[in-house]
Amino acid sequence: GFVPQPTPVILLKEGTDTSQGIPQLISNINACQVIAEAVRTTLGPRGMDKLMVDSRGKATISNDGATILKLLDVVHPAAKTLVDIARSQDAEVGDGTTSVTLLSAEFLKQLKPYVEEGLHPQTIIRAFRTATNLAVSKIKEIAVSVKKDDKEQRQLLEKCAATALNSKLIAGQKGFFSRMVVDAVMSLDELMSLKMIGIKKVQGGGLEVGVCCSVSRESQEEEFTHEWTRSPVDRCRRPNLHPNVPQTEVLTACVWCDLQACGGSIQTSVGAMTDDVLGQCELFEEVQVGGERYNFFKGCPKAQTCTIILRGGAEQFTEETERSLHDAIMIVRRAIKNDSVVAGGGAIEMELSKYLRDYSRTIPGKQQLLIGAYAKALEIIPRQLCDNAGFDATNILNKLRAKHAQGGTWYGVDINSEDIADNFVACVWEPSIVKINALTAASEAACLILSVDETIKNPRSSMDGPPGGAGRGRGRGRPHAH
Ligand SMILES: Nc1ncnc2c1ncn2[C@@H]1O[C@H](COP(=O)(O)OP(=O)(O)O)[C@@H](O)[C@H]1O
Ligand SMILES: [Mg+2]
Repeated sequence: GFVPQPTPVILLKEGTDTSQGIPQLISNINACQVIAEAVRTTLGPRGMDKLMVDSRGKATISNDGATILKLLDVVHPAAKTLVDIARSQDAEVGDGTTSVTLLSAEFLKQLKPYVEEGLHPQTIIRAFRTATNLAVSKIKEIAVSVKKDDKEQRQLLEKCAATALNSKLIAGQKGFFSRMVVDAVMSLDELMSLKMIGIKKVQGGGLEVGVCCSVSRESQEEEFTHEWTRSPVDRCRRPNLHPNVPQTEVLTACVWCDLQACGGSIQTSVGAMTDDVLGQCELFEEVQVGGERYNFFKGCPKAQTCTIILRGGAEQFTEETERSLHDAIMIVRRAIKNDSVVAGGGAIEMELSKYLRDYSRTIPGKQQLLIGAYAKALEIIPRQLCDNAGFDATNILNKLRAKHAQGGTWYGVDINSEDIADNFVACVWEPSIVKINALTAASEAACLILSVDETIKNPRSSMDGPPGGAGRGRGRGRPHAH
């Protein structure tokens, strides 16, 4: 695999503050704002992508918060916390990495005035933990569970996958890809190991525009009505092109089962070739895909693994597609394990914000203000979705506040018409675990940053070295014995 070289962000290294107490806290909060700025514009279906070039000239295009932050070599110790939570959100739930970063930075931004005022960090931390617990219970209370009826579950999974893909380069083909991702995950056993879904990238497929899929699919959706007759693989359909996707960049993709799915086992000699060590499949064929020939095993009785072939012109494009599919696959796995969903597009954040604002009015003193600050910070998600779409965020947020006050629980940003909409009805669904994880992690990171009032550098890491100089390069910087 490709291991990107980090691009240094000098600004942060130079800016690392050696002060103590409140100035240190403020400086750390400011550093986190810089991190949020780096990913802010990528949020949501109208978010932009980032093109990053490393020191060796390798270009990466991405919309994924965790990927972007990984490629930026963030050296500021406090700001690194945000990079870490984006990474752990990626590992835990696979989606919501931009949201978690924005939320955490916004929590810090909203509580900055209280830090400046000299309010004790522990008081702030207490309020934030209370607010997070309340918000998480509220999510669990209002999340909608879909019955495990086969057809409904499949719809739920496809909708969650589609929501995850909305913000990606391949959003134009989200219907096709979300079905493919659900097919892939459904072919796995109960453990749903990510390793069991292989993704192979074949360059140069952009010339042959088409999508082929060996997984049988009876219904002919409007998007895929054309038979792709030139394809050697059966049941192939050609998608109508999304106007935003350049013709040569459309991917071809294919799901088929892997060798081990046939149920064969590896033998060291041909002496004991009994039937039970041999694998089976309905159809074996060798097919040219791009510049290489592949062996296809289809109709495998023990298929609990599958492989997706991605084809596309530019390498950056197939790589970003692979990352996008990874997000969607993770989301589908999550949704199978935890079948409750909430509405996205800022709907859940607005509802939690309203709930916490109402709650804060029932308690006295600073805790009221702090929980109010938390509630306000949650609005960053719908606000940023609006900003990125070029909408008047103040106007939309006013409408959303009014609607939620009247009980419109699932109202969020309508990305298609500069308005608000019931995003549950609009099928912008996200597994509730994504939001629970994001809120918990964002609030914990903010609390962690608040509990640091001094950064002490390892003397060996600074250029001028320890005073006296003796023992430098040897030993471990232990104090000298006199
Ligand atoms: N069709 C849609 N309309 C409005 N908001 C949407 C839509 N699809 C996705 N979103 C929202 O976009 C946000 C996710 O954006 P994304 O760029 O994927 O960031 P993240 O890395 O946080 O997942 C979520 O708040 C999600 O609810
Ligand atoms: Mg996402």
